[in-house]
Amino acid sequence: MSPSILVRAATHTDWPRIRALCCLTGDNGNPIEESRWESFGEKWIAPYETLLPEWAFVAETEGKIVGYLTGCPNSAAFRESARPRFSLPQLAVEERFAAATRARLDREFPAHLHVNLEAPARGAGIGKMLLDAFVARLRAVKTPGLHVFCGAEPLAYYLKNGFRELDRLETKLGVFAHAMVKNLEP
Ligand SMILES: CC(C)(COP(=O)(O)OP(=O)(O)OC[C@H]1O[C@@H](n2cnc3c(N)ncnc32)[C@H](O)[C@@H]1OP(=O)(O)O)[C@@H](O)C(=O)NCCC(=O)NCCS
Repeated sequence: MSPSILVRAATHTDWPRIRALCCLTGDNGNPIEESRWESFGEKWIAPYETLLPEWAFVAETEGKIVGYLTGCPNSAAFRESARPRFSLPQLAVEERFAAATRARLDREFPAHLHVNLEAPARGAGIGKMLLDAFVARLRAVKTPGLHVFCGAEPLAYYLKNGFRELDRLETKLGVFAHAMVKNLEP
């Protein structure tokens, strides 16, 4: 029998494991070098841990956290509140998209997320469960839509979960960053 999976809101004791999972998946789903763990976790996780802990979810099997989702309902407000203390790493890609695309993301798809599972937990529906939990919270506060920036690997996951591509950017020859969006309006 496959182990049962619990998806729940993150609590304050979960954050060290969330940081570890971020580093175990930080290189396109593969681990980053151990020497970079501290700064990488700080860069990608600290803004969410500090400013939006109530918007994070974890997936647990047999008492072990195997995946997480960090996110926010309003990216423009998040950028503003993060600015004095954090330099958000995702802005390096985000700011290269056309101004018209960025304006649409802020207006029509204001929420965003990051989701990562450790390798053995992938392909069993856990990513979908985390996303569903996040989307349910977003619907409860009447967010019109959400977006995510991703590379080629997780594209199929987002497409299967109701996202479509709004725009794409060639970050280097033949390598694309995709701006994926999902409408939440009834
Ligand atoms: C991307 C990720 C979060 C998806 O979670 P998951 O639990 O593996 O995905 P699910 O099992 O919920 O898959 C949902 C659907 O997407 C499909 N899917 C998921 N990942 C896929 C992939 N890499 N390629 C093709 N299809 C994929 C599944 O087939 C499934 O469709 P089905 O229900 O018809 O079978 C997870 O694989 C992961 O952490 N990957 C490495 C890190 C990463 O890429 N994170 C996203 C950064 S933007």
